[in-house]
Amino acid sequence: MVKIGIVGLGTVGTSVVKVLQKNRDIITSRAGKEIMPVRAVVKNLNKKRDVDIELTDDYKKVTRDSEIDIVVELMGGVEEAYKVVSDALKHGKAVVTANKALLAYHRFELQKLAKTPFEYEASVAGGIPVIKALRDGLSANHIEEIQGIINGTCNYILSEMKKGRDYSDVLKEAQVLGYAEADPTFDVGGFDAAHKLLILASIAYNIDAKPEDILIEGIENINLVDIEFAKEFGYEIKLLGIAKKDNNKIELRVHPTLIPQSKMIAKVEGVMNAVSVIGDVVGETMYYGPGAGGDATASAVISDIIEIARGQNKPMLGYKKPLEIEKLTLKTPDEIETKYYLRIAVNDEIGVLEKIAHILAKNDISIESFLQKPRDGFVKLLFATHKSIEKNVKNAIKEIEKEKFVIKPINYIRIEE
Ligand code: HSE
Repeated sequence: MVKIGIVGLGTVGTSVVKVLQKNRDIITSRAGKEIMPVRAVVKNLNKKRDVDIELTDDYKKVTRDSEIDIVVELMGGVEEAYKVVSDALKHGKAVVTANKALLAYHRFELQKLAKTPFEYEASVAGGIPVIKALRDGLSANHIEEIQGIINGTCNYILSEMKKGRDYSDVLKEAQVLGYAEADPTFDVGGFDAAHKLLILASIAYNIDAKPEDILIEGIENINLVDIEFAKEFGYEIKLLGIAKKDNNKIELRVHPTLIPQSKMIAKVEGVMNAVSVIGDVVGETMYYGPGAGGDATASAVISDIIEIARGQNKPMLGYKKPLEIEKLTLKTPDEIETKYYLRIAVNDEIGVLEKIAHILAKNDISIESFLQKPRDGFVKLLFATHKSIEKNVKNAIKEIEKEKFVIKPINYIRIEE
Protein backbone atom coordinates (compact mmCIF):
# COMPACT_ATOMS: atom_id res chain seq x y z
CA MET A 1 0.00 0.00 0.00
CA VAL A 2 1.15 3.54 -0.78
CA LYS A 3 0.07 6.14 1.77
CA ILE A 4 -0.63 9.70 0.72
CA GLY A 5 -0.63 12.93 2.74
CA ILE A 6 -2.29 15.90 1.07
CA VAL A 7 -1.38 19.48 1.89
CA GLY A 8 -4.35 21.68 0.91
CA LEU A 9 -7.91 20.37 0.66
CA GLY A 10 -9.50 22.88 -1.73
CA THR A 11 -11.15 22.07 -5.08
CA VAL A 12 -8.25 19.98 -6.38
CA GLY A 13 -7.42 18.24 -3.08
CA THR A 14 -11.05 17.24 -2.62
CA SER A 15 -11.20 15.89 -6.19
CA VAL A 16 -8.00 13.89 -5.64
CA VAL A 17 -9.50 12.12 -2.60
CA LYS A 18 -12.81 11.49 -4.41
CA VAL A 19 -11.20 10.14 -7.60
CA LEU A 20 -8.85 7.88 -5.60
CA GLN A 21 -12.00 6.38 -4.05
CA LYS A 22 -14.17 6.36 -7.19
CA ASN A 23 -11.54 4.80 -9.52
CA ARG A 24 -9.85 2.70 -6.86
CA ASP A 25 -9.98 -0.56 -8.88
CA ILE A 26 -8.33 0.73 -12.02
CA ILE A 27 -5.83 2.84 -10.06
CA THR A 28 -4.79 -0.15 -7.91
CA SER A 29 -4.49 -2.32 -10.98
CA ARG A 30 -2.34 0.25 -12.84
CA ALA A 31 -0.16 1.14 -9.86
CA GLY A 32 0.20 -2.49 -8.74
CA LYS A 33 -0.57 -1.32 -5.19
CA GLU A 34 -3.42 0.23 -3.33
CA ILE A 35 -3.15 4.01 -2.92
CA MET A 36 -4.59 5.36 0.28
CA PRO A 37 -5.09 9.05 1.14
CA VAL A 38 -4.55 9.01 4.90
CA ARG A 39 -4.31 12.61 6.12
CA ALA A 40 -4.86 16.14 4.84
CA VAL A 41 -3.36 19.39 6.08
CA VAL A 42 -5.84 22.29 6.19
CA LYS A 43 -5.82 25.81 7.61
CA ASN A 44 -9.28 25.63 9.14
CA LEU A 45 -10.06 22.42 11.02
CA ASN A 46 -13.65 23.50 11.67
CA LYS A 47 -14.67 23.98 8.04
CA LYS A 48 -17.06 21.29 6.80
CA ARG A 49 -15.38 19.06 4.17
CA ASP A 50 -16.85 17.09 1.32
CA VAL A 51 -14.61 14.09 1.87
CA ASP A 52 -13.88 11.77 4.74
CA ILE A 53 -10.18 12.03 5.62
CA GLU A 54 -8.25 12.69 8.84
CA LEU A 55 -7.41 16.41 9.13
CA THR A 56 -4.54 18.28 10.76
CA ASP A 57 -3.37 21.89 10.70
CA ASP A 58 0.31 20.93 11.18
CA TYR A 59 2.07 20.14 7.88
CA LYS A 60 4.85 18.25 9.72
CA LYS A 61 2.28 15.57 10.61
CA VAL A 62 2.43 14.76 6.91
CA THR A 63 5.97 15.67 5.85
CA ARG A 64 7.55 13.90 8.83
CA ASP A 65 5.22 10.96 9.45
CA SER A 66 7.17 7.78 8.75
CA GLU A 67 3.99 6.07 7.53
CA ILE A 68 3.44 8.50 4.67
CA ASP A 69 5.14 7.72 1.36
CA ILE A 70 4.03 10.58 -0.91
CA VAL A 71 3.30 14.19 0.01
CA VAL A 72 0.88 15.84 -2.43
CA GLU A 73 1.23 19.63 -2.25
CA LEU A 74 -1.93 21.44 -3.36
CA MET A 75 -1.78 24.51 -1.13
CA GLY A 76 -0.54 27.03 -3.74
CA GLY A 77 1.64 30.06 -3.07
CA VAL A 78 5.43 30.16 -3.26
CA GLU A 79 7.46 30.47 -0.06
CA GLU A 80 5.17 28.59 2.35
CA ALA A 81 4.81 25.80 -0.23
CA TYR A 82 8.60 25.73 -0.70
CA LYS A 83 9.00 25.23 3.06
CA VAL A 84 6.52 22.33 3.07
CA VAL A 85 7.88 20.63 -0.06
CA SER A 86 11.53 20.93 0.95
CA ASP A 87 10.68 19.59 4.42
CA ALA A 88 9.00 16.59 2.75
CA LEU A 89 12.03 15.98 0.48
CA LYS A 90 14.46 16.29 3.39
CA HIS A 91 12.43 13.66 5.24
CA GLY A 92 12.64 11.23 2.33
CA LYS A 93 9.13 11.64 0.96
CA ALA A 94 8.29 11.52 -2.71
CA VAL A 95 6.49 14.69 -3.76
CA VAL A 96 3.69 15.46 -6.19
CA THR A 97 2.72 19.07 -6.74
CA ALA A 98 0.33 21.04 -8.93
CA ASN A 99 1.95 24.31 -7.87
CA LYS A 100 3.20 26.22 -10.92
CA ALA A 101 4.14 29.36 -8.96
CA LEU A 102 6.37 27.32 -6.65
CA LEU A 103 8.10 25.71 -9.65
CA ALA A 104 8.41 28.99 -11.57
CA TYR A 105 10.64 30.26 -8.75
CA HIS A 106 12.21 27.19 -7.15
CA ARG A 107 12.30 24.32 -9.66
CA PHE A 108 16.10 24.20 -9.91
CA GLU A 109 16.62 24.29 -6.12
CA LEU A 110 13.99 21.59 -5.69
CA GLN A 111 15.65 19.47 -8.36
CA LYS A 112 18.91 19.64 -6.39
CA LEU A 113 17.15 18.76 -3.17
CA ALA A 114 15.08 15.88 -4.58
CA LYS A 115 16.68 12.48 -3.98
CA THR A 116 13.21 10.94 -4.09
CA PRO A 117 10.71 11.12 -7.00
CA PHE A 118 9.32 14.60 -7.67
CA GLU A 119 6.44 14.91 -10.13
CA TYR A 120 4.42 17.94 -11.26
CA GLU A 121 2.24 16.99 -14.24
CA ALA A 122 -0.74 19.03 -12.99
CA SER A 123 1.28 22.24 -12.82
CA VAL A 124 0.96 22.93 -16.56
CA ALA A 125 -2.27 22.72 -18.59
CA GLY A 126 -4.29 20.92 -15.86
CA GLY A 127 -5.42 17.55 -17.17
CA ILE A 128 -3.25 17.45 -20.33
CA PRO A 129 -0.23 15.15 -19.88
CA VAL A 130 2.07 17.69 -21.52
CA ILE A 131 4.96 17.39 -19.03
CA LYS A 132 5.20 13.65 -19.71
CA ALA A 133 4.90 14.30 -23.45
CA LEU A 134 7.67 16.91 -23.48
CA ARG A 135 10.00 15.29 -20.94
CA ASP A 136 9.58 11.65 -22.02
CA GLY A 137 7.77 11.34 -25.34
CA LEU A 138 9.85 14.01 -27.12
CA SER A 139 13.15 13.38 -25.34
CA ALA A 140 14.93 12.56 -28.64
CA ASN A 141 14.25 16.06 -30.01
CA HIS A 142 15.79 19.48 -29.89
CA ILE A 143 12.75 21.62 -29.16
CA GLU A 144 12.42 24.43 -31.68
CA GLU A 145 9.29 26.10 -30.41
CA ILE A 146 6.46 25.80 -27.89
CA GLN A 147 3.23 27.76 -28.22
CA GLY A 148 0.58 27.26 -25.60
CA ILE A 149 -2.84 28.37 -24.51
CA ILE A 150 -2.04 27.58 -20.89
CA ASN A 151 -4.45 29.71 -18.92
CA GLY A 152 -8.01 28.43 -19.03
CA THR A 153 -9.48 31.53 -17.39
CA CYS A 154 -8.10 33.88 -20.06
CA ASN A 155 -9.15 31.59 -22.88
CA TYR A 156 -12.62 31.37 -21.38
CA ILE A 157 -12.86 35.18 -21.08
CA LEU A 158 -11.61 35.80 -24.64
CA SER A 159 -13.99 33.16 -26.04
CA GLU A 160 -16.99 34.64 -24.23
CA MET A 161 -16.06 38.23 -25.22
CA LYS A 162 -16.40 37.19 -28.87
CA LYS A 163 -20.10 36.64 -28.11
CA GLY A 164 -20.28 40.29 -27.01
CA ARG A 165 -20.14 39.57 -23.26
CA ASP A 166 -18.59 41.95 -20.78
CA TYR A 167 -15.04 41.20 -19.54
CA SER A 168 -15.76 41.54 -15.82
CA ASP A 169 -18.96 39.45 -15.93
CA VAL A 170 -17.10 36.59 -17.58
CA LEU A 171 -14.21 36.85 -15.13
CA LYS A 172 -16.67 36.55 -12.22
CA GLU A 173 -18.18 33.47 -13.87
CA ALA A 174 -14.71 31.89 -14.30
CA GLN A 175 -14.14 32.40 -10.56
CA VAL A 176 -17.45 30.73 -9.67
CA LEU A 177 -16.60 27.81 -11.99
CA GLY A 178 -13.33 27.28 -10.08
CA TYR A 179 -11.03 28.07 -13.05
CA ALA A 180 -9.44 31.26 -11.75
CA GLU A 181 -6.60 31.56 -9.23
CA ALA A 182 -7.39 32.77 -5.69
CA ASP A 183 -6.13 36.14 -6.93
CA PRO A 184 -7.45 36.32 -10.53
CA THR A 185 -4.93 39.02 -11.51
CA PHE A 186 -2.52 36.08 -11.81
CA ASP A 187 -4.72 34.80 -14.64
CA VAL A 188 -5.68 37.97 -16.50
CA GLY A 189 -2.25 39.57 -15.99
CA GLY A 190 -0.53 36.62 -17.72
CA PHE A 191 1.51 35.56 -14.64
CA ASP A 192 -0.06 32.10 -14.29
CA ALA A 193 0.67 31.38 -17.96
CA ALA A 194 4.23 32.67 -17.46
CA HIS A 195 4.77 30.29 -14.53
CA LYS A 196 3.69 27.39 -16.72
CA LEU A 197 5.78 28.54 -19.67
CA LEU A 198 8.90 28.66 -17.47
CA ILE A 199 8.29 25.06 -16.39
CA LEU A 200 7.96 23.90 -20.01
CA ALA A 201 11.02 25.93 -21.02
CA SER A 202 13.20 24.35 -18.36
CA ILE A 203 12.31 20.87 -19.66
CA ALA A 204 12.86 21.94 -23.27
CA TYR A 205 15.97 24.10 -22.75
CA ASN A 206 17.18 23.59 -19.16
CA ILE A 207 16.84 27.34 -18.72
CA ASP A 208 16.61 28.76 -15.20
CA ALA A 209 14.66 31.98 -15.83
CA LYS A 210 12.30 33.62 -13.33
CA PRO A 211 9.01 35.39 -14.16
CA GLU A 212 10.75 38.77 -13.69
CA ASP A 213 13.17 37.94 -16.54
CA ILE A 214 10.58 37.55 -19.29
CA LEU A 215 7.98 39.58 -21.14
CA ILE A 216 4.53 39.14 -19.53
CA GLU A 217 1.41 40.99 -20.65
CA GLY A 218 -2.19 40.13 -19.78
CA ILE A 219 -5.56 40.46 -21.46
CA GLU A 220 -6.85 43.44 -19.45
CA ASN A 221 -6.63 45.91 -22.37
CA ILE A 222 -8.31 43.75 -25.02
CA ASN A 223 -11.62 45.27 -26.07
CA LEU A 224 -14.37 44.70 -28.58
CA VAL A 225 -12.65 46.84 -31.25
CA ASP A 226 -9.65 44.48 -31.18
CA ILE A 227 -11.96 41.50 -31.39
CA GLU A 228 -13.74 43.05 -34.41
CA PHE A 229 -10.38 43.82 -36.08
CA ALA A 230 -9.27 40.24 -35.50
CA LYS A 231 -12.43 38.90 -37.12
CA GLU A 232 -12.16 41.25 -40.08
CA PHE A 233 -8.53 40.31 -40.77
CA GLY A 234 -8.98 36.55 -40.22
CA TYR A 235 -7.38 36.27 -36.77
CA GLU A 236 -8.30 34.97 -33.31
CA ILE A 237 -6.98 36.65 -30.16
CA LYS A 238 -5.45 34.19 -27.66
CA LEU A 239 -3.21 34.61 -24.63
CA LEU A 240 -0.17 32.60 -25.71
CA GLY A 241 2.92 31.43 -23.87
CA ILE A 242 5.73 31.25 -26.41
CA ALA A 243 9.19 29.68 -26.10
CA LYS A 244 11.30 29.88 -29.23
CA LYS A 245 14.87 28.91 -29.99
CA ASP A 246 16.78 31.29 -32.21
CA ASN A 247 20.38 30.08 -32.67
CA ASN A 248 21.82 30.17 -29.14
CA LYS A 249 19.12 32.39 -27.72
CA ILE A 250 15.78 31.57 -26.18
CA GLU A 251 12.80 33.84 -26.43
CA LEU A 252 10.21 33.48 -23.65
CA ARG A 253 7.08 35.61 -23.66
CA VAL A 254 3.43 35.65 -22.64
CA HIS A 255 0.99 38.07 -24.24
CA PRO A 256 -2.31 38.34 -26.07
CA THR A 257 -1.59 37.21 -29.62
CA LEU A 258 -3.36 37.46 -32.95
CA ILE A 259 -3.23 34.03 -34.62
CA PRO A 260 -4.61 33.19 -38.09
CA GLN A 261 -8.02 31.52 -37.74
CA SER A 262 -6.80 28.62 -39.89
CA LYS A 263 -4.27 27.45 -37.25
CA MET A 264 -5.36 24.56 -35.02
CA ILE A 265 -4.47 26.42 -31.82
CA ALA A 266 -6.77 29.30 -32.89
CA LYS A 267 -9.74 26.94 -32.66
CA VAL A 268 -9.25 26.20 -28.95
CA GLU A 269 -12.21 27.71 -27.10
CA GLY A 270 -13.45 28.13 -23.54
CA VAL A 271 -11.47 26.78 -20.60
CA MET A 272 -9.64 24.31 -22.84
CA ASN A 273 -5.85 24.50 -23.10
CA ALA A 274 -3.60 23.45 -25.98
CA VAL A 275 0.14 23.22 -26.34
CA SER A 276 1.93 22.91 -29.66
CA VAL A 277 5.51 21.64 -29.50
CA ILE A 278 7.82 21.58 -32.50
CA GLY A 279 10.70 19.12 -32.29
CA ASP A 280 13.51 18.91 -34.85
CA VAL A 281 12.91 15.18 -35.36
CA VAL A 282 9.16 14.78 -34.96
CA GLY A 283 7.90 18.11 -36.39
CA GLU A 284 4.83 19.73 -34.86
CA THR A 285 2.86 17.91 -32.17
CA MET A 286 -0.14 19.26 -30.29
CA TYR A 287 -1.77 18.47 -26.94
CA TYR A 288 -5.31 19.54 -26.12
CA GLY A 289 -7.62 19.21 -23.14
CA PRO A 290 -9.12 20.79 -20.04
CA GLY A 291 -6.59 23.11 -18.44
CA ALA A 292 -8.34 23.98 -15.20
CA GLY A 293 -10.90 22.64 -12.74
CA GLY A 294 -10.78 20.13 -9.88
CA ASP A 295 -11.24 16.82 -11.70
CA ALA A 296 -8.98 17.66 -14.68
CA THR A 297 -6.18 18.65 -12.30
CA ALA A 298 -6.82 15.62 -10.05
CA SER A 299 -6.46 13.37 -13.10
CA ALA A 300 -2.90 14.66 -13.62
CA VAL A 301 -2.02 14.58 -9.89
CA ILE A 302 -3.12 10.94 -9.61
CA SER A 303 -1.18 9.95 -12.74
CA ASP A 304 1.95 11.20 -10.93
CA ILE A 305 1.03 9.26 -7.79
CA ILE A 306 0.57 6.09 -9.87
CA GLU A 307 3.91 6.65 -11.63
CA ILE A 308 5.68 6.93 -8.26
CA ALA A 309 3.82 3.93 -6.84
CA ARG A 310 5.08 1.89 -9.80
CA GLY A 311 8.60 2.65 -8.64
CA GLN A 312 9.58 5.07 -11.41
CA ASN A 313 12.07 7.79 -10.52
CA LYS A 314 12.86 10.18 -13.36
CA PRO A 315 15.14 13.19 -13.30
CA MET A 316 12.82 16.01 -12.29
CA LEU A 317 13.41 18.33 -15.25
CA GLY A 318 14.37 15.52 -17.62
CA TYR A 319 18.17 15.88 -17.75
CA LYS A 320 20.51 13.25 -16.31
CA LYS A 321 23.39 15.55 -17.31
CA PRO A 322 23.11 19.23 -18.20
CA LEU A 323 23.62 20.17 -21.86
CA GLU A 324 27.13 21.29 -22.50
CA ILE A 325 27.18 21.79 -26.24
CA GLU A 326 24.38 24.31 -26.26
CA LYS A 327 24.86 27.36 -24.09
CA LEU A 328 21.48 28.99 -24.38
CA THR A 329 20.85 32.50 -23.11
CA LEU A 330 17.60 34.38 -22.69
CA LYS A 331 16.67 37.08 -25.22
CA THR A 332 15.78 40.41 -23.68
CA PRO A 333 12.19 41.56 -24.43
CA ASP A 334 13.65 44.36 -26.62
CA GLU A 335 15.21 41.83 -28.99
CA ILE A 336 11.93 40.07 -29.82
CA GLU A 337 10.97 40.22 -33.48
CA THR A 338 7.40 39.65 -34.60
CA LYS A 339 4.46 41.32 -36.33
CA TYR A 340 2.33 43.87 -34.48
CA TYR A 341 -1.19 45.21 -34.54
CA LEU A 342 -1.54 48.82 -33.38
CA ARG A 343 -4.78 50.54 -32.34
CA ILE A 344 -4.42 54.33 -32.36
CA ALA A 345 -7.28 56.68 -31.43
CA VAL A 346 -6.81 60.09 -33.10
CA ASN A 347 -8.66 63.32 -33.88
CA ASP A 348 -9.89 63.38 -37.48
CA GLU A 349 -7.40 65.95 -38.87
CA ILE A 350 -5.48 66.48 -42.11
CA GLY A 351 -1.99 64.92 -42.14
CA VAL A 352 -2.47 62.47 -39.24
CA LEU A 353 -1.93 59.35 -41.32
CA GLU A 354 1.11 60.83 -43.03
CA LYS A 355 2.77 61.65 -39.68
CA ILE A 356 2.10 58.19 -38.26
CA ALA A 357 3.38 56.48 -41.42
CA HIS A 358 6.50 58.65 -41.24
CA ILE A 359 7.25 57.74 -37.61
CA LEU A 360 6.73 54.05 -38.34
CA ALA A 361 9.06 54.20 -41.37
CA LYS A 362 11.70 56.10 -39.40
CA ASN A 363 11.70 53.24 -36.85
CA ASP A 364 12.11 50.63 -39.57
CA ILE A 365 8.50 49.43 -39.29
CA SER A 366 6.69 48.50 -42.47
CA ILE A 367 2.86 48.52 -42.62
CA GLU A 368 1.22 45.33 -43.90
CA SER A 369 -2.46 46.32 -43.65
CA PHE A 370 -4.55 49.20 -42.40
CA LEU A 371 -8.15 49.95 -41.39
CA GLN A 372 -9.79 53.23 -40.37
CA LYS A 373 -12.89 53.22 -38.15
CA PRO A 374 -14.75 56.48 -37.56
CA ARG A 375 -16.28 56.59 -34.03
CA ASP A 376 -18.21 59.29 -32.13
CA GLY A 377 -16.10 62.34 -33.02
CA PHE A 378 -12.74 60.59 -33.33
CA VAL A 379 -11.13 57.93 -35.50
CA LYS A 380 -9.59 54.57 -34.68
CA LEU A 381 -6.65 53.66 -36.87
CA LEU A 382 -5.80 49.97 -36.93
CA PHE A 383 -2.45 48.91 -38.38
CA ALA A 384 -0.85 45.50 -38.88
CA THR A 385 2.92 45.62 -39.40
CA HIS A 386 5.41 43.32 -41.09
CA LYS A 387 7.96 41.63 -38.77
CA SER A 388 9.54 44.35 -36.66
CA ILE A 389 11.85 44.54 -33.65
CA GLU A 390 10.08 45.10 -30.32
CA LYS A 391 12.41 47.94 -29.34
CA ASN A 392 11.61 49.85 -32.56
CA VAL A 393 7.88 49.33 -32.09
CA LYS A 394 8.03 50.59 -28.49
CA ASN A 395 10.02 53.65 -29.64
CA ALA A 396 7.55 54.39 -32.44
CA ILE A 397 4.61 54.07 -30.04
CA LYS A 398 6.24 56.55 -27.63
CA GLU A 399 6.89 58.97 -30.47
CA ILE A 400 3.37 58.75 -31.92
CA GLU A 401 1.82 59.17 -28.46
CA LYS A 402 3.58 62.56 -28.17
CA GLU A 403 1.56 63.91 -31.13
CA LYS A 404 -1.35 66.18 -30.11
CA PHE A 405 -3.83 64.40 -32.40
CA VAL A 406 -3.45 61.14 -30.40
CA ILE A 407 -6.23 61.04 -27.81
CA LYS A 408 -5.54 57.82 -25.86
CA PRO A 409 -2.56 55.56 -25.11
CA ILE A 410 -1.89 53.29 -28.09
CA ASN A 411 -2.85 49.64 -27.78
CA TYR A 412 -0.87 46.92 -29.49
CA ILE A 413 -1.12 43.14 -29.89
CA ARG A 414 1.64 40.94 -31.24
CA ILE A 415 0.84 38.69 -34.21
CA GLU A 416 2.20 35.12 -34.67
CA GLU A 417 1.74 33.37 -37.99
N1 HSE B 1 -6.16 29.50 -13.07
C1 HSE B 1 -5.62 28.48 -13.89
C2 HSE B 1 -6.23 28.61 -15.28
C3 HSE B 1 -5.92 27.13 -13.29
O1 HSE B 1 -7.18 29.38 -15.46
O2 HSE B 1 -5.73 27.99 -16.20
C4 HSE B 1 -5.08 26.03 -13.83
O3 HSE B 1 -3.72 26.20 -13.58
